[in-house]
Amino acid sequence: MTYLETARRKTEELAKQEKVRILSLETSCDETAAAVVENGRVILSNVVFSQIDLHELYGGVVPEIASRAHMEACDRVIDQALREAGMKLEEIDALAVTKGPGLVGALLTGVNCMKGLAFAAGKPLVGVNHIEGHVSANYLSHPDLEPPFLCLVVSGGHSHLVEVEDYGVYRLIGQTADDAAGEAFDKAARVLGLPYPGGPRIDALAEEGNPEAFVLPKPKTAGKYDYSFSGLKTAFINTVHGLEQRGEPLPKADLAASFRRAVCTELMEKAEAVIRSRRQTAGGKEQAFALAGGVSANRELRRTAEAMCRRQGVKLFMPVIPLCTDNGAMIGSAAYYRLMRGGIAGLNMNAEPALRLVN
Ligand code: KG4
Ligand code: ZN
Repeated sequence: MTYLETARRKTEELAKQEKVRILSLETSCDETAAAVVENGRVILSNVVFSQIDLHELYGGVVPEIASRAHMEACDRVIDQALREAGMKLEEIDALAVTKGPGLVGALLTGVNCMKGLAFAAGKPLVGVNHIEGHVSANYLSHPDLEPPFLCLVVSGGHSHLVEVEDYGVYRLIGQTADDAAGEAFDKAARVLGLPYPGGPRIDALAEEGNPEAFVLPKPKTAGKYDYSFSGLKTAFINTVHGLEQRGEPLPKADLAASFRRAVCTELMEKAEAVIRSRRQTAGGKEQAFALAGGVSANRELRRTAEAMCRRQGVKLFMPVIPLCTDNGAMIGSAAYYRLMRGGIAGLNMNAEPALRLVN
């Protein structure tokens, strides 16, 4: 029997099993992360090895350094995830790995590692879309959450408004035309002299500042529900340079607070507009809205989402903070729902650096 035939047969048996435990690996950017997740909802272990120290010196992720660091860390992180879950590899039902989008070298390290393990152990393997992983972090934080819901996915590489119609079924409503929200935060932070990754630092600094101190322009987009952050970022950089040229001291907390306010207002206004328009078509049915991705850890974004959902009478779901940024458990959750639909990969699976959530 070939590997794929064995994997298919095992997958069919898994559908009858009460508990399905998946060992997952995430290596798309600068975190080597592994987890064991049960039935897509219960975290048995979640180990994240961050490479931030290695990249901080360069002010951003260096792809070659990331790939090498993943290669060195993979085995160790996987072993730790199994140990913390109290399980042996033989007891695991299936394996999962992020296949895209992300840095090609970083993805390849993880994909090859898990293909090798799947072949050696004769276990089904699931290739997971990283963005779907972020959405699925909400299933881990909220056992009661079921599709359909509207989800704002905001990370270092993505800003998407998607309708989650069912598990694995997405409809793209809006996306960024240029920079992602996290990328904009990171660039603005760099101008303020804050170290990489700047998003969390700008967020902390902004708590001390006045969000109305600086007026930044409202982004313009072609699509009604699309985003654009590059103009906002340029306006911010120009404001900072203007202050520097006049020899004025930088009110960093006020600048951070004003920038954060502009980004969060933009993100939430579009989401609210979608919810309003859906209310007319959904006949007033109760709606749900979820945040996902690294930027959903942002304190003001969470507060703005709470206020918006209260205003609109919509139920809000947000991942707990450690599940907002990259982790292995979110990949294990997304993999479960894919596996239950028979979505297993062959050993010819490749990394797909430009993989989209919706084609
Ligand atoms: O989801 P993630 O870990 O990786 C990607 O898939 O990109 O997101 C990382 C991004 C970075 O740009 C980081 O600066 C941003 O999320 N981020 C934040 C916060 N925490 C992480 N941005 C704003 N406020 C935060 N608290
Ligand atoms: Zn991510």
